[in-house]
Amino acid sequence: MLRAIYPGSFDPVTFGHMDIIRRSSAITEELIVGVLQNKSKIPLFSVEERVRMLKEVTKEIKNVKIVPFEGLLIDFAREVEAKVIVRGLRAVTDFEYELQMAQTNHKLNPEIETMFMTTGLDYSYLSSSVVREIAAFGGDISQFVPESVIKQVTEKIKGKKIQEKRSE
Ligand code: PNS
Repeated sequence: MLRAIYPGSFDPVTFGHMDIIRRSSAITEELIVGVLQNKSKIPLFSVEERVRMLKEVTKEIKNVKIVPFEGLLIDFAREVEAKVIVRGLRAVTDFEYELQMAQTNHKLNPEIETMFMTTGLDYSYLSSSVVREIAAFGGDISQFVPESVIKQVTEKIKGKKIQEKRSE
């Protein structure tokens, strides 16, 4: 059984992520979308919220599972018995970081391979941080994230701004 992991922060999930999820789940028997709970970085959405959004937008794809993880990706891969890590490559600027990560993971466990999938041209500029920034300035994010995510991003940013005002 070819089980792969597509790991990431997904803060929030974008159409670029959806493109990789769709295409990599079509060539694997099971795709586990691993959602990082990173204690050293404060995300916009909690891991539970990110998992919920991902479950909603992938509910039609039968062989996709959304699972949160903490710690090393390679340990998570061993736990869920996945042999392949899938990462999307948008442009050459992604390459150095991705290469370092793939080579480090391979050193830690040579039995687990990283495979790169080039992101569709339509999404090569897109990132979660760009989406967060556009939303923070009141811009339209409907071209970048699924419908169900738009409202959650705008509400979260509105809530954050109210909180920031209160603490001024
Ligand atoms: O969506 P992102 O933020 O680009 O995803 C990065 C992610 C989650 C794949 C990466 O940060 C990760 O694997 N973190 C877990 C910690 C780890 O294993 N680090 C060693 C790899 S060099």
